Amino acid sequence: MQWKTLALALLVKHVSSQGTVPMMRFECSQLVVDRLDPLVNPGSVPSPHLHQIVGGNSFNASMDPATHDLPAASTCTSCTFSEDFSNYWTAVLYFRARNGTFKRVPQFVSEGLHGIGGITVYYIPSTNKQLNVTAFKPGFRMLVGDAASQSPTPARKVCHRCMPASGDNSNINCGSPDSQTLPTGFCAGGIRTIITFPTCWDGKNLDSPDHKSHVIYATGSAANDVGPTGTCPKTHPVVIPQVMYEVMWDTRPFSKKELWPEDGSQPFVWSTGDQKGYSQHGDYVFGWKDDTLQRAMNARCNGDVCKELKTQTPEEAMKCTKAQVVKEDIDGWVTTLPGDRMLF
Ligand SMILES: *[C@@H]1O[C@H](CO)[C@@H](O)[C@H](O)[C@H]1NC(C)=O
Ligand SMILES: *[C@@H]1O[C@H](CO)[C@@H](O)[C@H](O)[C@H]1NC(C)=O
Ligand SMILES: *[C@@H]1O[C@H](CO)[C@@H](O)[C@H](O)[C@H]1NC(C)=O
Repeated sequence: MQWKTLALALLVKHVSSQGTVPMMRFECSQLVVDRLDPLVNPGSVPSPHLHQIVGGNSFNASMDPATHDLPAASTCTSCTFSEDFSNYWTAVLYFRARNGTFKRVPQFVSEGLHGIGGITVYYIPSTNKQLNVTAFKPGFRMLVGDAASQSPTPARKVCHRCMPASGDNSNINCGSPDSQTLPTGFCAGGIRTIITFPTCWDGKNLDSPDHKSHVIYATGSAANDVGPTGTCPKTHPVVIPQVMYEVMWDTRPFSKKELWPEDGSQPFVWSTGDQKGYSQHGDYVFGWKDDTLQRAMNARCNGDVCKELKTQTPEEAMKCTKAQVVKEDIDGWVTTLPGDRMLF
């Protein structure tokens, strides 16, 4: 449980006036890796680029918010909190060989958890003990990041860390030494991506045309903030839980000088085609059963056990998978990225 000690040590520094911030942190194994995106490209089979998807198995290409009831339509979830049928997805990472072919980078489970690689999901209640956050409503969804982004964003909410061999889960929130670009050297412990969602909601819209403007980061929030601070602007007055994704990419099999480009550049590329690192993104479709998330937030649950919630073992969670809908080779040495993505 070293991550906890380190993370909490850091948090104490950040919120010393209010004590430590409890945070739910749990493993969601891979449901499927597929070229689908029901949020940004609903109904498109295939969507433009490849994603890894975790969570409830009602995930599909359309997920019409008016009719798609995730807890009712799912028969299992790949998350260890077994009442969480939400879906979470991100881009996936590829290695580009000197001969120009690509190989998908394997993933591994985050420190302190068990299972196979997928997404480690966080829900962080308010840092203010006097305030209970408002859990999301059925139909709620949101997006962080931009698959076409070629430059840094002012708010550093999507970032990478070149991980040491072990023991570095301190500062889990895009503060130093994380970067928006992909790391430029070998990473002994692989590459970690963090995606941090906003904590203020307009209180009305379950979604918005860009899937972003119905939510906003807290006023004055910094890259290294953790959790909803409660300082929401008048336009977005409702304090919501902070959702955060942590994804571990096992780049170690590729940490060989003879495999890297001769010009010294780094060889990893997002499934969007992006070689710099700015295009990683996170999609979220809420799907907790009944009022489970609200109760867990009110109880300020911490880690992957919560007295308000039912859990399943990582082994049970790993059994929840879906067949790939867009049939294409994603795991061999492929000559182009799925969807024939142009490199940028
Ligand atoms: C997605 O799931 C919903 C609800 O289960 C179903 O009505 C719909 O037909 C499915 N759509 C696709 C494209 O599979
Ligand atoms: C391209 O390079 C990779 C990594 O060295 C190798 O495994 C693969 O077989 C090569 N493919 C071709 C077509 O040469
Ligand atoms: C937050 O929720 C807890 C548990 O339901 C309750 O005991 C507490 O009074 C609530 N706090 C506020 C400020 O509403």
